[in-house]
Amino acid sequence: MKEIQLEYKVRSYQSLDELPEISRELILMAREAARRAYAPYSGYRVGAAVLLENGEFITGNNQENAAYPSGLCAERTALFYASSKYPDVAILALAVTALSNDRLPEAFAKPCGGCRQVIAEYEDRSGKPIEIILDGSSAILVMEGIDTLLPFRFKKEEMSVKK
Ligand code: THU
Repeated sequence: MKEIQLEYKVRSYQSLDELPEISRELILMAREAARRAYAPYSGYRVGAAVLLENGEFITGNNQENAAYPSGLCAERTALFYASSKYPDVAILALAVTALSNDRLPEAFAKPCGGCRQVIAEYEDRSGKPIEIILDGSSAILVMEGIDTLLPFRFKKEEMSVKK
């Protein structure tokens, strides 16, 4: 037996001003989207903003429903819309933020497991990593791709075994 150590690099920024301009813009768009979320049941409003390779931004927010599973997370709302509008354009970055009692929580807004799998699918689809930017009141975290949030993830190209 041997232990395998996994290593991931995450950049931590103390404030918005420290971020590269495009990431800052993405966070601000996500924050604006969070304010428009429809979250009457949880009261937790999430905003997401996506940067596409063609330079376009797409935002989304969580949409809840009285029949709970019928709702959708902010990340998937944004990613699905991006992919439905521009199926052949790579997604380069995704910013996620949240509002709890109208305030940005200290804990970073983090994509749920289902959203992580969806992010992974779009990375695989374009062959390019999606930079993930997580907003929090104490810091902003930036990582280079979904592997950091979803190690040992399922990949469909690994399903077939070479003979
Ligand atoms: N939510 C998101 O929008 N994104 C996530 O990654 C985690 C959870 C939403 C779903 C639901 O509307 C609310 O947050 C509380 O779970």
